[in-house]
Amino acid sequence: RHKGQRREDSMLVHCIVGTRPNFVKIAPIMKALGRCQRIRAHLIHTGQHYDTVMSRSFFEDLTIPEPDRYLNVGSGTHAVQTARIMESYEQVLNEEKPGLVLVVGDVNSTLACSLTAAKAVTPIAHIEAGLRSFDRTMPEEINRLVTDTLADHLFTTCTDADENLRREGVSPERIHFVGNVMIDALLTSLPLAARKKTIKRLQLEAEHYALVTIHRPSNVDEPESFFRVLMILEAIGRMLPVVFPIHPRTEKQAEALGLADRLHACPGLQLVAPLRYLEFINLLSSARLVLTDSGGIQEETTILRIPCLTLRPNTERPITIREGTNRLVGTDPDVVIDAARKALGSSDKPKCSPPPLWDGKAAERIAAIVEQIATAPA
Ligand code: UD1
Repeated sequence: RHKGQRREDSMLVHCIVGTRPNFVKIAPIMKALGRCQRIRAHLIHTGQHYDTVMSRSFFEDLTIPEPDRYLNVGSGTHAVQTARIMESYEQVLNEEKPGLVLVVGDVNSTLACSLTAAKAVTPIAHIEAGLRSFDRTMPEEINRLVTDTLADHLFTTCTDADENLRREGVSPERIHFVGNVMIDALLTSLPLAARKKTIKRLQLEAEHYALVTIHRPSNVDEPESFFRVLMILEAIGRMLPVVFPIHPRTEKQAEALGLADRLHACPGLQLVAPLRYLEFINLLSSARLVLTDSGGIQEETTILRIPCLTLRPNTERPITIREGTNRLVGTDPDVVIDAARKALGSSDKPKCSPPPLWDGKAAERIAAIVEQIATAPA
């Protein structure tokens, strides 16, 4: 039997993606599963993110295979989006009867496909299990809690997550500490990203700009919170050039709240369309400072040793504070601006070593365990 040939008794695994961060996480997993003889992986794209820049370009930059099924659900309220995904995915699940449904992260697609699989009594593997912000006003926290309750195999990025799961009563043999697939993708992509000319194209100078990403409902959905973000951007833009690849949700909210003109007029701020993965990593790896409310970027800046200010009251990724470059600063403009000034005041790169198992091999460890699951007697 030569490499790549599947055994007749191979197990079908559905790998579920829907949003931008899912695409990054699934890329190394699809590659690693592709090398397993006992596994046939089908990629199911829910269509939660559908724009070329939010979806297609990630498939290209991360060489993710074409989805086997595209559910085309699009945007909607949480209930509508979740229900639509469940309805479409149930059909695919019934037709293909996978032996395992593998979900990543904490988005609505993760939740909806887990619920569908659980009702069809199909085993679920959750990648990035056990993260907790302990803040149930975040839609992602609800998605994490429900997905982990339903999952049979829980793959974690850090031992904090293992502890959270054990505290919730998950039996230890179902928890697998494997490391961080988002960092697998980052480490593989750094040399390719270094060849991009994004910094130059945006007329920035390496190490002399701040990179901003803000899209959480808690920061952009209410006028007061969006206004605080604006005040922060205005102040940071006076300290150094700022580049802000704006998420469609943020852009829409700026319009809806009547703040778009003021946002566009911020001194020192370049608003750009969402960036492809490699272009974003190109910008991220030479930034002087990062301000964000994203989860993944807290992890990426930790590995790249770039100071990161997280504009949230909490994080489900405390390891990035303890062992990384992240600081939780909330959204009080005075506090954030003061933290930015301090970060810019020190010229040394933060000293820290990568968290355990954030070494580029998480997907390989996951694939090895999934292959064991495939061969274990039912
Ligand atoms: C989703 C995830 C969030 C993740 C983020 C990454 C949930 C609950 N949230 O948030 O955890 O951090 O993705 O980006 O699953 N839109 C477009 N084009 C697209 C997709 C969305 O224009 O391709 C616009 C739509 O107007 C939509 C809005 O963005 O209403 C929000 O999209 P949605 O998928 O509901 O959530 P995100 O804010 O992207």
